[in-house]
Parts: sequence; C-alpha cells; structure tokens
Amino acid sequence: TTIEWDAETWDMGGHDTYMHKEIHEQPEAVDRVLRGRIDDRFATVRLGGLGIDNREARAVRRVKIIGCGSAYHAGMIGAQLIEELARIPADAEPASEFRYRNPVVDPDTLYVAVSQSGETYDTLAAVQELKRKGARVLGVVNVVGSAIARETDGGVYVHAGPEVCVVSTKCFTNTAVAFALLALHLGRVRDLSVADGRRIIEGLRRLPEQLSEILKTEEDIRRIAAEFGTARSMMFVGRVRGYPVAREASLKLKEISYIHAEAYPASELKHGPLALIEPEVPSVAIVPNDELLEKNRATLEEIKARSGRILAVGHQDHPIADETIIVPRNEPELDPILLGVPLQLLAYHTALVMGRDIDKPRNLAKSVTVE
Ligand code: AGP
Repeated sequence: TTIEWDAETWDMGGHDTYMHKEIHEQPEAVDRVLRGRIDDRFATVRLGGLGIDNREARAVRRVKIIGCGSAYHAGMIGAQLIEELARIPADAEPASEFRYRNPVVDPDTLYVAVSQSGETYDTLAAVQELKRKGARVLGVVNVVGSAIARETDGGVYVHAGPEVCVVSTKCFTNTAVAFALLALHLGRVRDLSVADGRRIIEGLRRLPEQLSEILKTEEDIRRIAAEFGTARSMMFVGRVRGYPVAREASLKLKEISYIHAEAYPASELKHGPLALIEPEVPSVAIVPNDELLEKNRATLEEIKARSGRILAVGHQDHPIADETIIVPRNEPELDPILLGVPLQLLAYHTALVMGRDIDKPRNLAKSVTVE
C-alpha cells in the first residue's frame, strides 16, 4: 500500500526528533480521535465504521484483542475498559501467540485486531486466519486503507496522524482512547447507565487539556531521567489498570535507551523478581489513587525494604518514593491513558542523555512486515 503523506508529515516543527514531536502532538491527536464521535444526547459515541449494529453488539459474549508490541499493550488497556464499562469478558494476547496456538474460534466472540501501521505481518495473518474460520473481526488501526483495515469487517480509526518515529507514542495513546470509545459504545448498548456514560464522556473531554499539563512537566522528567537513567536495569510495576502502563513504559525504555527493563504486575514481585531489587536497580511504580492505592503503597514499602530506589507515578506525592511524578486525575477507568505519558518522556530523556539514535533504534523497524 502507498500512503499519501504531505510535506507537513516530514516537518520536524522545531523538534530535534520525531519522537519528541509526536509526544507533544498528543493533545491535538486525542482531540482528533474524539472529534465528531461524542453523542451527548444518548451519553454515548457514534462509531460510523464499526460495521455491527446495536443488536449484534448486545449479542457479543466475549472480546478477544490481538496485536503486537505497543499495539498489544494498548489492547490490554482496551480489554480492561471493555470489561469495566461493558461488562463483557475481554482479554488481549500477542497476535503471533494467538495465531500459532490454533485458537478455538467462537462465533459469539468479537475479535479486535490492533495496529498502528495496519501492516504488521503477525497481526494480519491472525486476522486472515480468523476470517477463514468465519469470525467477526474489527480493526483498531491508525493508517487508513492499510492491509489490516481492508481485511477487517469494520472498526475504529485511531486518527493519530502519521507516526514517523519507530517507537510508538501518540498512536499508543490514541489507540487507548479509541478503545475507550468502543468500550463506551458497547457499554451503552448494554448496561452502562446514562450517568456513567456522561461521566466517561466528561473524562474523555478532559484528556487533551490534561495531556498538555503533563507535557509541561518535561523539565522535571528530564532531571529525573538524568538521575535514574544511569541504571543498568529497571523494574516497572503496576496493578490491574497500572500493569499495561508499566509494560508499555518498560518497552519504551528498552527500545530507545537499550537499558534492560522488566515489567511485572506489582503482586507478582514477591513471587520472584524481588530478588533483583537493589540500589542499582530502580523501580518505576504506577500508583494511581484508585481502589488499589493501599495495595500499591504496600508494594512501595516492599521495594524500599530491599533498598530499592523508587520513582512513583500517580496522583499525589508518595514520600516513601525517591521521586514522584504527579499526573492529573481523570475517571479511574481512563487514568491509564494519562499515567504512561510522563514515562514516554522519561524514556526519551534517558535515551537522549545516552546519545542514542532515538528515531531509529538499532535492530528495529517501524513496521514488521515479515514473520
Ligand atoms: C512500538 O514502540 C514498537 N516499535 C512496536 O512494538 C510496535 O508497536 C509493533 O511492532 C506493532 O506495530 P503496529 O502497531 O504497526 O502493528
């Protein structure tokens, strides 16, 4: 496929790297994915290209989301949003694992393929296998007219605009927002109340402004990156809504800085990875002020007791942590969309200090169109 990009696509707009430009484009990108889709009257959203009517949406018994890398992580956020807002069992799986394990394809399951480029071979092959078996497959895709967009029965375009840097930033965020729209839609044709629909819509509307606020803290994050970026290895932990955030932040750091990073559900630390904690291995903990705050505080104590340095990302100061990045609070279901954004900047500034080739990290390509 040839995608038509205009000269503006290649304009760095005063930024030194595309990654920096794309991180800073997030407020307007999120504005774009929301534009024209909110239906205030019925406290829902209009998704013109979905290709399933409300009766079919009500009949869905399960949602299975597939994608690779950052797209898979955005799908993990999507699965949680769908479970929370629509109360449909949902989970995400790497597309390649899915296609090689000969999955049971169920007619009552809605399959969703996620991809920035729409050309990732593993995801495309999984879609084709699903279609061959008669499944209904939607796409959550950024590039209009791409292979996955064409192969799927319908879906939600992510409208992040062209993403040039090999590592995904604005597209990851916009994909998570696109999933919030899908979850709200599925929720409102099922049991999500008008009041909860309104609450989520108001939360979605706050996102662009809150993203701008986060981007204003870049100087602090640059300082923290200089402090933490000397580590040889880093641990990222989060619980439930925080776990995909931790995974994506860990991927971002390793992709562009080449620092080894691991991501674990916070509750799994004591089942093994705690053995790695020492002053030279700092932890980044995702600690939102949600119903799991106390549990997450216990995690901070667990790490501190092993002399581990901590960077907490949450909604309030955590004195036990060595550094805290405070992110504006949204509705709890939407918080994961914001919590990862300062960690994109952390990865960026860490890689910058180390003199890495940020837009073109070694061994990686923007889209992996081979097996
Ligand atoms: C993201 O930072 C990575 N470069 C990579 O994990 C990417 O998300 C993955 O290859 C999937 O690409 P896609 O979204 O174009 O399908």
